Amino acid sequence: MTTDNSSMESVSHEHRKFPPASEFAASAHISGEAAYKALYEKSIQDPEAFWAEAAEELHWFKKWDSVLDASEAPFFKWFDGSRTNLSYNCLDRHIEAGRGDKIAIHWEGEPGDARDISYKQMHLEVCRFANAMKARGVKKGDRIAIYLPMIPELAIAVLACARIGAVHSVIFAGFSADSIRDRVLDSETCMVITADGGYRRGKMLELKQIVDEGIASCECVKDVVVVKRGDAHPVDCKMQEGRDSWYHDLVADVEDDCPAEEMEAEDLLFLLYTSGTTGKPKGIMHTTAGYQVYSYLTSKYVFDLKQDDVYWCTADVGWITGHTYIVYGIMQNGVTQVMYEGAPNHPDEGRFWDIIEKYKVSIFYTAPTAIRAFMKWGDDWVTRKDLSSLRLLGTVGEPINPEAWMWYHKMIGAERCPIVDTWWQTETGGHMLTPMPGATATKPGCATVPFFGVEPAILTDDGETVEAGILAIKKPWPGMLRGIYGDPQRFKDTYWCKWDGKYYFPGDGARRDEDGYIWILGRVDDVVNVSGHRIGTAELESVFVEHKDVAESAVVGVPHEIKGQGLVAFVTVIDGREQDDHLRKELVTMIDKSIGKFARPERILFSSDLPKTRSGKIMRRILRDIAEGKELGNVTTLADPTVVQDLQQQYLKG
Ligand code: WT7
Repeated sequence: MTTDNSSMESVSHEHRKFPPASEFAASAHISGEAAYKALYEKSIQDPEAFWAEAAEELHWFKKWDSVLDASEAPFFKWFDGSRTNLSYNCLDRHIEAGRGDKIAIHWEGEPGDARDISYKQMHLEVCRFANAMKARGVKKGDRIAIYLPMIPELAIAVLACARIGAVHSVIFAGFSADSIRDRVLDSETCMVITADGGYRRGKMLELKQIVDEGIASCECVKDVVVVKRGDAHPVDCKMQEGRDSWYHDLVADVEDDCPAEEMEAEDLLFLLYTSGTTGKPKGIMHTTAGYQVYSYLTSKYVFDLKQDDVYWCTADVGWITGHTYIVYGIMQNGVTQVMYEGAPNHPDEGRFWDIIEKYKVSIFYTAPTAIRAFMKWGDDWVTRKDLSSLRLLGTVGEPINPEAWMWYHKMIGAERCPIVDTWWQTETGGHMLTPMPGATATKPGCATVPFFGVEPAILTDDGETVEAGILAIKKPWPGMLRGIYGDPQRFKDTYWCKWDGKYYFPGDGARRDEDGYIWILGRVDDVVNVSGHRIGTAELESVFVEHKDVAESAVVGVPHEIKGQGLVAFVTVIDGREQDDHLRKELVTMIDKSIGKFARPERILFSSDLPKTRSGKIMRRILRDIAEGKELGNVTTLADPTVVQDLQQQYLKG
């Protein structure tokens, strides 16, 4: 096991405890620890009854025959026999209840332009775009790639797909052309929805150009739909005759209504590609009914959503956080939310607090890496603003260090707002470990307790229960992934084989404390979390070895003050080739092109060899120790112990 020791050290001394304020608890959906415990017990004793009750709160064209069908485990089925539609539950249901005029999205563009969109308007836009897609020949089951900035059309496109049963595959707009190509080919995408550009720190990112490059050789793509974002910054956007159309042209002459397709429970809702330990990113599959119920209920309870809340999640819809906690979970609950296009420090470092003040945000959900950046920028940006509308804070994406947690608690939450530190994954679909804000006493840096129906365990490799070890999930839950697109074997091998199908294996290390709380200790595999972005070290390694001068490479994650983790690359150059800054630059350009700028390593070190066992396995533990400047432990199992001395000296030289 290769748990990150530094995070284990910093959290193992943490004993502060913060019970929810009685005022908050009094009006919370789940009020007090006893209420949480009772409902949790119920959810574990009789999960089917628990989930059926939750599902009753939503709309179904036809109800289920069975809640959970485990007959083909690990290919679990939830709410089998039912028919439903996520877009119906996000939109039509609220209009039918007379809440159509309520604001669904207060959208704010980075340059300061803004749009307020009611649930009724959202419904109209979704229906029109759904009809436009149909008019272009899109059918139920077709895969649609979405590569958009954080503009309302991103949520509209997602919901339009759901409405007609097309499968969306959102690609975060920071990914490169090569990444688009890989995803489009893997899922045989027939349509790509993009924009001429999107704003980031005052600049226009020319997204359509990146799409053009990415899909140049993808014959499966018949249609490219382009949203016009850049009125103020006209982008030279070349439209390919017969393939490309403007979004505004397509929606100009279609019907206003588009009936929601009655979807089967296990119909594929979306694919979202994420990194693993080997090879190319995998297309995580989420289906309809189970994901619907899970995203709805976790949103309701973990954010304690009420009808008068103004919710803001700062994630991008390109990641799972945005799928579940901007689009599906939040809109199913019918609350008002803020959606912001740009950077937190544009035009200045107070932008987020301006937005909270302006829209009177009551629930704020962000990432530890952002919190650490706010801390660095200084308290003045915060104290000048009125944040008194806030009542609940959340974090997601990576472990939060107690220092950042305390700053968030004091500076943003004014010691009044509970903090929900939510542990979950692309694969889990929704929150798995999290405080219940009106019930759980929180501890800085701790994801605390399981959500309803989730039964965690901490195990050794051999499946024995321990206090600190590998996190495992025992029971299936409705939001769970249903597979890896096109690769059922990889799905079984990656998530279900570790403990012979008895537990789901998430890939994180964890520790249980004296209160039974669970602390997440970081990944136990070769996945690195850079600013909350999940990156497989193998992906970078395979890019580096494509360079003609590179023989071999190993990439490791190391602690980073702001990003949580950073990447350090060790590269062995073929004998006689130059190893200099020029080569470093070429390697960085290759990462930009193959993955995206966010995956750039902090450092690239050249070495004549890499530390290996006698059987030829690269010893990453040693590389991590070198990169962290640690004392090296036992190196006698190495084939050539002198390799590490060379590397260490190089590392110190910088
Ligand atoms: C990995 C999943 C969850 C949506 C965004 C990331 C790490 C996530 C926490 C947390 C400690 C966390 C885990 C997990 N992680 N949230 N609250 N505390 N670690 O989704 O890209 O699928 O990454 O992020 O290591 O396995 P993802």
